[in-house]
Amino acid sequence: MGGDVQTGENEWFYSEEVKEHFFSPKNIFTSEEEAKNYTADGEGMVGSPACGDVMRMWIKVDPKTDRIRECKWRTFGCASALASTSMLSVMVTENGGIKIVDALRLKPGDIIKRLGGLPARKIHCSVLGDKALRAAINDYFKKSGQFSRVLHAEGKIIDPEVNVSDEDIEHAVLEGARTIEDLQKRLKVGIHNKDVLPKVKELIAYYRKKHFGE
Ligand code: FES
Repeated sequence: MGGDVQTGENEWFYSEEVKEHFFSPKNIFTSEEEAKNYTADGEGMVGSPACGDVMRMWIKVDPKTDRIRECKWRTFGCASALASTSMLSVMVTENGGIKIVDALRLKPGDIIKRLGGLPARKIHCSVLGDKALRAAINDYFKKSGQFSRVLHAEGKIIDPEVNVSDEDIEHAVLEGARTIEDLQKRLKVGIHNKDVLPKVKELIAYYRKKHFGE
C-alpha cells in the first residue's frame, strides 16, 4: 500500500501493513527479562500525555558508521502504537541501519506513510515511538560522551498563566484541536494572556502541517 495517508477524523480504517505489524510486531521485547539482559548503547522512555501509555526503546549504534544497528522496544500502548513502533524499528535498522542524522529527521508522518495510513485519532500513538527513539539517541549521545550532539529539551512554556507548553499544544492538535477556539476549550491558553495568541496560532499551524500535512 503506502502513498495516501489521509484518513478522516471519524474513520477507523486499518491498512494491511498496520495489521501485519500489530499481529507480528518486529524487534519487540515481549518480556521484562529480555529487556534486562540487553546491553544497549542508548535507552529512552516516554509517556503519552494523550492516553497515559508508555514506550521504552533501546538502540545499538555502530560508532564507526554512526548507524543504528539494532532497535528494540516495549510498550503497553494500543494496536496503533505497536504497529507504528514496529514499523519504525524496521525503518531505522533496514539496509544496514539508518544514520543517526537521518533518524533524527524522521517524522511520525513518515512512519504513517509506510504503514499506509492510520486513523486520525490514532496519530498520537505513532508519536510515542518517534519520541522514544529521540530519547534513546539522546541517551546514546550522553553515554558516548558526544555532548555537543545532545538535543535540546522540549516543553517550552508558551502561556505561563496556565502553564501550557508547546508540547501541550502539539498533543491537543494530535487529539483533534484545529482552531484557537478548540485549543482554548482544552487548555484555556491565551484567555487571560492575550499576548500569547499569535504564538499559539503559529504553533497550531505548525503542528497541523507537521502531523497532518494541512
Ligand atoms: S492510545 Fe495510547 S498509544 Fe495508542
